[in-house]
Amino acid sequence: MSFRLQPAAPARPNRCQLFGPGSRPAIFEKMAASEADVINLDLEDAVAPDDKAQARKNIIQAIGDVDWGAKTLSVRINGLDTPYWYRDVVDLLENCSDRIDQIMIPKVGCAEDVYAVDALVTGIERAKGRSKPINIEVIIETAAGIAHVEDIAASSPRMVAMSLGAADFAASMGMQTTGIGGTQENYYMHRDGQKYWSDPWHWAQTAIVAACRTHGVLPVDGPFGDFSDDEGFRAQALRSATLGMVGKWAIHPKQVALANEVFTPSEAAVSEAREILAAMEEAQKSGSGAAVYKGRLVDIASVRQAEVIVRQAELILG
Ligand code: COA
Ligand code: MG
Repeated sequence: MSFRLQPAAPARPNRCQLFGPGSRPAIFEKMAASEADVINLDLEDAVAPDDKAQARKNIIQAIGDVDWGAKTLSVRINGLDTPYWYRDVVDLLENCSDRIDQIMIPKVGCAEDVYAVDALVTGIERAKGRSKPINIEVIIETAAGIAHVEDIAASSPRMVAMSLGAADFAASMGMQTTGIGGTQENYYMHRDGQKYWSDPWHWAQTAIVAACRTHGVLPVDGPFGDFSDDEGFRAQALRSATLGMVGKWAIHPKQVALANEVFTPSEAAVSEAREILAAMEEAQKSGSGAAVYKGRLVDIASVRQAEVIVRQAELILG
């Protein structure tokens, strides 16, 4: 480890972030009753321009009135390139109850985007005497966002989570696809008459995970658009979990169980991790820094790997 230690990300479950438009209050109670760890009430792209003002009112009221249980409650504001974002923040934080946990900023392109929202949030918190600090989460979904991803992860002590937004990211990058995440028809290797599909989101995901882990922020995979394709969702989510992401969005309630399943360490994974920890404890007692577990090497690095899985399981399952 470098002299500067890697800070821990917030210790809270973030397996699934369920989205719903702020203009559709009829689904708020259903969102609250879901098994999602995080709820994202949307003011941005799921809300038409003429509905923004009413959506703000719906969200302000629902934050106070709906029983959100132990969920993390987040509101996605509009991007800093729109005429809506400042009014989103001001109306929301001047009027909503303390039940709100965080604000999500979409299409973040540089650290100063977060700085601007942080300054506005801080001013309102002081003016209104809000005692519970508001956290910030962001979406990386532009070329500028991924180019400045590390500065963005380090941009504010309020930063808790960062998601990859595949659709806007693809558009901003000029990618030739209309798919929202998942396998892309034309992204394959070819050999001996066979196609082997590759993963066009991989590099952006790993850049996000590295930036997040460096600065103690939770890395999250964003939307998977085809909510009829459970196997496609599962494959994408398993890749994200393998790369170090802690959860994935649900843009339809049927995706919640899929995300929870993938991002909860399996019983088999947890018991193997515990066995590795036990094997290493035995080895260390006899003065050895390495051991053999099921015919393979385990050492101090294996302890750190196993601890990731055990910690995640304890966080989620208690
Ligand atoms: N959260 C909770 N419940 C939801 C829901 C959501 N996001 N979306 C739909 N439901 C409910 C419906 O009300 C319906 O409930 P019922 O069985 O009691 O009637 C049930 O789930 C099945 O819904 P379905 O008919 O399959 O979907 P729909 O046509 O009503 O809505 C979408 C589909 C995609 C429009 C809707 O899920 C949605 O708006 N998703 C979020 C979009 C969003 O916020 N995007 C921004 C982030 S990318
Ligand atoms: Mg987007």
